[in-house]
Order: sequence, then C-alpha cells, then structure tokens
Amino acid sequence: MSPRADAPRFVLAPMDGMTRASFRAVCFGYGADGATTEMIQSLAYGRAKRRLSETFLETLIRFPEEGDLAAQLIGSSPAMMGESARKLCDLGRFDAIEINMGCPARKVVGSGNGAALLRTPEKAVEIMRAVRERSRLPVRLKLRLGWDEDSITAPELTRAAEEMGFERVTVHGRTRAQRYAGAVDADAIRGIAESVRIPVYANGGVTCARDALTFLEATRANGVAIGRAALKQPWIFEDIRRLRMGETPREHDAAERVDVLLRLARLSCLHRPERVAVCEMRKFASWLLPGLTGAEGALERLNRAFTLEDFTRLMEGYLDALLRSNDVRIHPELKPRTDLDTV
Ligand SMILES: Cc1cc2nc3c(=O)[nH]c(=O)nc-3n(C[C@H](O)[C@H](O)[C@H](O)COP(=O)(O)O)c2cc1C
Repeated sequence: MSPRADAPRFVLAPMDGMTRASFRAVCFGYGADGATTEMIQSLAYGRAKRRLSETFLETLIRFPEEGDLAAQLIGSSPAMMGESARKLCDLGRFDAIEINMGCPARKVVGSGNGAALLRTPEKAVEIMRAVRERSRLPVRLKLRLGWDEDSITAPELTRAAEEMGFERVTVHGRTRAQRYAGAVDADAIRGIAESVRIPVYANGGVTCARDALTFLEATRANGVAIGRAALKQPWIFEDIRRLRMGETPREHDAAERVDVLLRLARLSCLHRPERVAVCEMRKFASWLLPGLTGAEGALERLNRAFTLEDFTRLMEGYLDALLRSNDVRIHPELKPRTDLDTV
C-alpha cells in the first residue's frame, strides 16, 4: 500500500511538442507541483559527441521559475539509456530522470521504444536497471497498463521499479492498443497503487479540476498527472487547489487568457527562434480563445503574425475590443475545440 501521509500532488504530464520550458513555467505559475520535459531520444543524446541541434537542445532548457522537473528519456538500448541518464544528471539541471514506457506512436514502438517495452518486460527491467545504476538523481517510470488488454504488465514493472528503489511510477490507465481514446481504467491504477509502497501517480482522461479530484479518489493514487486538459486550462492546478480548500475556482476570462498567451509567447521567444515561437502560438491560442466572442476572427488574424510585436498587437487589440463591448466572459455555448481529446 502506498504511503498516504503526504498531500497529493498534481503535476503536468509530458507532451512532446508542447511541454517545453515556456509552457511548463506557465503551469508552475498556476501552482503545478511538478512537470517533466518532453521525451529526449537516448539514441541521439547518449551517443552525441558533436554539437546537438538547437531543436534538440531546447528540450533540455529549464527556466529558473520552474519547480520540480524530471528529464524524460525514451529508448530501447540499456547502454544508451544509462549513458543518457548519466549525462542528464551531470547537467545539474533536473530533479529526477524519468523513463518513458508509454509512447504509442507507430514509429516509436516500431523500433522497440516507449510502449513497446511493455511487451518485453525483461528488456524493460534491463533498461530500468541501467538507468538506475547510472543516475545520481531519483529515477521515475511512466508507463501504460500494458500493450493490450491481454498483456497487462504495469503491475509487475511497478513492482520491479519499487525493488530497484525508483522514486515514483506514473500509470496512464490505458493500454497501447487504446492510444489516447477509450476508457481509462481507474480500478487497474488503484490495484497497482494499493500493491506497492512507492508513490503511484494516476494519469489519463482528466478534463477539469473536479475530475482530477474524482480520479485521485478513485485510484487512491499519490498524485495525478494532467496532460491535454492543461493545454486548454493551464490554470487547472490553481482550480484544483481552490477546490481542495473548499473554494470555488475563479472564472478565467478573456483578460486572463490573453495574458497567458502573451506570457507564453514572451517566454517561448527566449528559447526558440521568434518566428517559430510566434507561429506555434496559433496552436495555443486555438485552445485558449474558443468560448470568447470573436475568437474565430482573432485566430484567423493570428495566421498573419510572425513577430512577437505582431502577436502582442493583435492580442491586445482583440482584448481591447472585448473590454470596450464589456464582453470578456466565456460563453459556454461557443463550444471549445475537442480535437485534442483523441490526439
Ligand atoms: C501530443 C502529446 C504528446 C505526448 N508526449 C509524451 C511524451 O513525450 N512522453 C510521455 O511520457 N507521454 C507523452 N504523452 C502522453 C501524456 O503524457 C499522457 O500520458 C496522455 O496524454 C494521457 O493523459 P491526459 O488524458 O491527461 O492527456 C503525450 C500526449 C500527447 C497528447
């Protein structure tokens, strides 16, 4: 049974292409208890003798305002995973190393990485041992329940993690076969959490702050990792804290949403080329603006913004118009985008 003395923690789940330092800093600003980098390819990092590409180096950036941060490694070679873990520890920048055994992408599993390891538990354990041996930092594991419903290996791999002295295991309550859709099995996560003493964090399918608390209760986990919901509601961590204190979460109006986007854009420009960072803001805007009057027009105009100055002018102009017409509130009938639900 997991120790339950500590307060539960609510952390940002890793998302490739999304959870860079800039977005993580925004979530930490809203009270996230922790985060993980995007997955770092051990094959590229462990072997690298020459300079790594700028895009690769971006995944290793950590901002000073970030809280507890694990660097996540993906790979299928125990030697490369071990060597990458050592190098990441030597950077002196992270609080823990996390092993990815959940990524379901065809290309990833095709080469034996990510969720593919759930099908080969002996190999998975070999990797865990190599990373544990070469890491000076605590080691964590993030995995799915199993490859499919006929091969549920998360319980045995979690026990192996416990025996090797891992710090935490995060369980996404789906199998690889389910990818990102279908029911999350809270009972299965609970079964794992109740069978080991190391902290187990539950992951998968949380859509709002209330949901995160219900999920915590149902899984009896020590924490919850939140992915896609945080992209649309980075304030979810503040909402959770308020609910836990018996308060009602604040409404997150247009002024706050535009402020989040401006902050995110400024932070992104610190670690990415300006044009790339600003173009990427279209995606974050398309998750944060729907529900506001005129969001479609604002999103359309953003397609023509290529500099931080353009972006700031457009966003401030949009907010000014809403403020002038006294229309900054969210309109629930203007449905938010749902495409993230099945990414
Ligand atoms: C676009 C995207 C990228 C992801 N990248 C990673 C990753 O790099 N490492 C990882 O362990 N999980 C990754 N995940 C999985 C999430 O961490 C999480 O397990 C999954 O989205 C389920 O949680 P959610 O329903 O709260 O989003 C990714 C998910 C999405 C949607």
